[in-house]
This record gives sequence, structure tokens and C-alpha cells, in this order.
Amino acid sequence: MRILSGVQSSGRLHLGNYYGAIRQFVHLQEEGEAYFFIANLHALTTVRDPKLAEEFTREAAMAYLALGLDPKKAVLFRQSDVREVLELYWILGTVVPHAHLERAHSFKDKVAKGISPDFGLFAYPVLMAADILLYSADFVPVGKDQIQHIEFARDWATKFNVTYVPGYDPQDPEGKEKGHAPGILKLPAARIQESTAVVPGVDGQKMSKSYGNTIDLFGDEKEIKKRIMGIKTDSTPVEAPKPTEDNALYQLLQVMLPPARFQEMDASWRAGGKGYGEYKKLLLEAYHDTFGPARKRYQELRNDPAELERILQDGAERARAEASRLMERVRRAVGIP
Ligand code: ADP
Ligand code: TRP
Repeated sequence: MRILSGVQSSGRLHLGNYYGAIRQFVHLQEEGEAYFFIANLHALTTVRDPKLAEEFTREAAMAYLALGLDPKKAVLFRQSDVREVLELYWILGTVVPHAHLERAHSFKDKVAKGISPDFGLFAYPVLMAADILLYSADFVPVGKDQIQHIEFARDWATKFNVTYVPGYDPQDPEGKEKGHAPGILKLPAARIQESTAVVPGVDGQKMSKSYGNTIDLFGDEKEIKKRIMGIKTDSTPVEAPKPTEDNALYQLLQVMLPPARFQEMDASWRAGGKGYGEYKKLLLEAYHDTFGPARKRYQELRNDPAELERILQDGAERARAEASRLMERVRRAVGIP
């Protein structure tokens, strides 16, 4: 079973990214043959500063490694290191109905958020489908917002196979019945990440890099402290029981503390007697307990860029071997020498 997923390197990673996505990826490497890549070509739709584009890509790779992705178990690579993906993107694009892209939610949502409606953003789902189909992935772990993209990938793979594979029957994509041929492009399935509660930011809205309310995973220690001590709280007096609804500090403690410690904390929270400042200190401690070791590994990788590059090159080589096999079949099928 092959599992594949990608993350766009479009900014610095924060607690929301960890609890909402990265943590699950790190578990998945135990479940099958895992391919994880940094979607730095996709990131170009929003990052227009070349230095930052490179930095975010490296930071994403270091973050994955520091947080537990093991390059011996999973294939970790940069999307742009396997140029075959751009070739498949074009060929696949020739069978993509324009109408599908016109009803893509992500395009509409991003344009509504102010991202420039360029061709690359419009064509984003085609590159994403190429990412998935190039490696014949069986499962693609993604958040709910990405389901439509996986459905597109299935539809377009089917259309490609129907167009170019003689004997392909969409009812029998693996060509199990006599007289049927298997497709060249394998149909992937989405694997929806069990829904993690939305992690709130320091202002109580959803934590997001676009809201400037993040607590970063690998940010400067002083800045992290400042952010945590600055979490917005109400004016409940020290002695009084604290409210649990709409309270970012409470929700963050719930996400970060080990269950037994959270229960202890919860009892005192509801009883009253401690001020918010004490709970913020507790959160800061929990942050360092949880991410201290990863932050240390991150620094080690940062100090050894050659080692990081070696890991990424090794991943790219393994990914490329797979990609070039598939592309040979695709080229032959469409008539490209
Ligand atoms: P941002 O909102 O900071 O731009 P992204 O959209 O790049 O974050 O999110 C990358 C991944 O992290 C997605 O899978 C998303 O579901 C997860 N994620 C981001 N923010 C949160 C959050 N506040 N709570 C839970 N998951 C989150
Ligand atoms: N679009 C995905 C996101 O924003 C990132 C991505 C790019 C991806 N290519 C992919 C995810 C292929 C899974 C498979 O989160």
C-alpha cells in the first residue's frame, strides 16, 4: 500500500499545522510505503520572493525530519526535484475538462482571500493530480478541504485511461476480468484525517499564518514566550472559576497537555483560585516539553545544510526512479518519443 501526501511550503509552521496535519503524517509512515513531499511548486502561487520560497522549502523539510519523519522509512523529497511531474501535469491537462476547474472550491476560496487569480492557481488541482498519479499512490491523507482534489485526480486518471489504454474498462480499473486491460494511471483514494479540533490562535480565531496569530513550532524562544504570555483572556478574577467556552488558553492547554495533566489542570480551572498567568506558564512549559527535542533536532539540521540536502537528494532519487517508469508508459501511450 502506497501512501502519498504533500504540504505546501507557503510559510512558517505553527501548532495548528502540527496537530492538524504533521502529527498524522508521522504516524502514517508506519502503515505503508510512504511518500511525502514539500509542494514547493504549488507554493509559487503565493510566495513570490525567491529567497523565502527556498527558505520555506528547507524549513518544511527540516520540520518533518525534526518531528519524526524517518527518511529510512518514508521517501521525503522536494516536489521540484522530480521534473517529470511537470510533464505529467501538461499531458494530464489535455484531458481535464475546463468546467471541473471552474467549480473547484479551493480556487474560489483562495481568490476570495485575496490570492491573485493567475493561471497557476487555476491549474493547481491538475498539478496536484499529477503529484498523486505520478507515484501510483493508493491513499492520500488530506484534510476535508482537499477531498475535491482527490476526486478530480480519480476522474482525470479514468479519462486518461479510457482515452489511451485499449481495453480499459472504467468499471474494472485494475483489468481483472478477461479481455480488460489495467489502467496506466492508478485511481487514488482520499484518506481523511480524523478531525482534530481546530487549534485556536493567540487571539481566539483559528490559528493561521494569514491571521498573524500563530505560535510557531520552530520560532525564536523569546517570541514564543511573548506570544503565549499574550494569549487573549477575559477579566475573570483570580479566585473565580474560569470559563471553558471560547477560551483560547483553555483550548490550547487541552491540545497540548498529556490527558492526565489536562484533567488535573481542568479541575483547578473550574474551581478557581489561579490566575490566567499561571496557566500561561503551564502552557509554555508544555510547549517546551512537547517540542524541545524536535527544536533541538531542527537546529542540528539547520547547522548541517549538507546533511539536509543529502537526505532530500536521496529522497528525490527514489521518487524519480518511480516517476520515470510511469512516464515512459505515459509517453508511449500518448505518442511522445
Ligand atoms: P494556514 O491556515 O496557516 O495557512 P495551511 O492552510 O497551510 O495553514 O494548513 C496546512 C495544514 O495544517 C492543513 O492540513 C490544515 O488542516 C492544518 N491546519 C492549519 N491550521 C490549523 C488549525 N488552526 N487547526 C487545525 N489544523 C490546522
Ligand atoms: N494542496 C495540498 C494542500 O494545500 C498540498 C498538496 C499538493 C498535496 N500536492 C499534493 C496533498 C498531493 C496531497 C497530495 O494541503
